[in-house]
Amino acid sequence: MFARAAASAALVVTLAAFDGAAAQTASQPPDTMAARVEACTPCHGNKGEGTSDVYFPRLAGKPSGYLYNQLLAFKSGRRKYPPMNYLLEFLTDPYLQQMAEYFADQHPPLPPVAANDASQEVLQRGQLLVSRGDPQRQIPACGSCHGPALTGMEPGIPGLLGLRPNYISAQLGAWRYGTRTAKAPDCMQQVAARLTEEDVTAVAAWLASRQAPVNLAPVPKGTYVLPFACGSEGD
Ligand code: HEC
Ligand code: HEC
Repeated sequence: MFARAAASAALVVTLAAFDGAAAQTASQPPDTMAARVEACTPCHGNKGEGTSDVYFPRLAGKPSGYLYNQLLAFKSGRRKYPPMNYLLEFLTDPYLQQMAEYFADQHPPLPPVAANDASQEVLQRGQLLVSRGDPQRQIPACGSCHGPALTGMEPGIPGLLGLRPNYISAQLGAWRYGTRTAKAPDCMQQVAARLTEEDVTAVAAWLASRQAPVNLAPVPKGTYVLPFACGSEGD
C-alpha cells in the first residue's frame, strides 16, 4: 500500500514536470464541485433547479444552512429517503457543507406555475392558513416563519415557492407521521401535527399556485421574530 502510494507519488512528480494537467488525471479525478454534484444532478437538475419528477425537490437558492441541515438529517436518518441516505452515509460534514453552499449559490429561474385543478374553496382555505393561520387551533400563519413573501429566512428556514404540491404534501405528511424530523425544538413538527389532511391539500395547492416574487432571496437572520422557537434556526 505504502509502496504503491510512494510509486504513484513519484510518477506524479515526474509527470508534473512534464505536463501538469496530465499529472492530475494520472493520480485521481479532479475534485471539482461539478464532479462532486454529478451524483445529485440526475435527480435535482444541474443547478439544483429540479427535474420533471414531482417528488424531487428544487435545491437552488435555498438558505445554505437549511440545505446543510437536510444533508445532515439524511446522513443520520432523521429524514428518510434510501437513495439519499446511502449516498451521504460516508461523506464528511465539511464536504456536505460545501455542497449545500454550492446549491444555495445557484439561481436558475423558477419553473412556470403549473395548471392547478384545486377548487376556489380549497385555494381560499390554503391562502387563509398560509397568511393568517387558524388561531383557534393554534396554527400560526406559515408566513410568520417562512416570511411575508414566503422566501424564507437565513440560516434555517426555506422559502415555500417553486415547490410542487405533491412534494409539499409529502413533506407535511412525513412530519405528521414522524419520518421527517428536524433539530429540536422541531417547530415544523408542531405545526404539521395540527393540520388535517384537508389543510395539507389546501396549503399545498395554494402555495404551488403562487407566482414567484422578483426577489427570491431568503431574508437575513433576525428580520422578524418567530411565533415559537425552531431548532433549525438557532438562537
Ligand atoms: C435518486 C434521486 C436522488 C439523488 C441521486 C439525490 N437526491 Fe436529494 N432528494 C431526492 C428526493 C426524492 C428528496 C426528497 C426526499 C423526501 O421525501 O424527503 C431529496 C431531498 C434532498 C434535499 C432536501 C431538499 C429540501 O428542500 O428539503 C437536499 C438538500 C438534497 N436532496 C441534496 C442532494 C445532494 C447534495 C445529492 C448528491 C450528493 C442528492 N440530493 C442526490 C432525490 C435524490
Ligand atoms: C414556527 C415556525 C414555522 C411555521 C409557523 C411554519 N414553518 Fe414550515 N418550516 C419551518 C422550519 C424551521 C423549517 C425547516 C425545518 C428543517 O430544518 O427541516 C420548515 C420547513 C418547511 C417545509 C419543508 C420545505 C422543503 O423544501 O422541504 C415545508 C413544506 C413547510 N415548512 C411548510 C409549512 C407550512 C405549509 C406552514 C403553515 C401551515 C408552515 N410551514 C409553518 C418553520 C415553520
